[in-house]
Amino acid sequence: MNKKIVIGSDHAGFNLKQKIKSFLTEQDYDVTDIGAFSSESVDYPIIAKEAAHKIVNGEFSKGILICGTGIGMSIAANKVKGIRAVVCSDTTSAKFSRQHNNANILCFGERIVGEYLAKDICYAWLTTDFEAERHLRRVNLLESEE
Ligand code: RB5
Repeated sequence: MNKKIVIGSDHAGFNLKQKIKSFLTEQDYDVTDIGAFSSESVDYPIIAKEAAHKIVNGEFSKGILICGTGIGMSIAANKVKGIRAVVCSDTTSAKFSRQHNNANILCFGERIVGEYLAKDICYAWLTTDFEAERHLRRVNLLESEE
């Protein structure tokens, strides 16, 4: 399994990002942090697009983005062709977003999910594979609109 992950947040997701980064490092993931590096205010689209470009250019296959809700990060990342970013606040959605949607960016919000649920969501998302088959046709149809 490819264990290289890019992670990012804005100021509203900074504290949770630090905790998730430590958790993933303990799980032997090779985590690249693109900021924020403090709780000082930063605009989430800048971080989201940087992570998204690193994924579409092949540097990473998966990323995790954290803001206040996860919503702004997902909207921004999904503007980049080839990105399938999802906001998940539960582990079931996280698993299905991999199995059926082949999501390549996971987003969630520090103002929405607690630390331990966020860790479970990350674990579920990172350890679940895309099922392909009929879902591949549907995922390919998503790209025809980009
Ligand atoms: C920042 O206050 C907040 O708007 C941002 O973190 C995010 O929740 C946007 O969707």
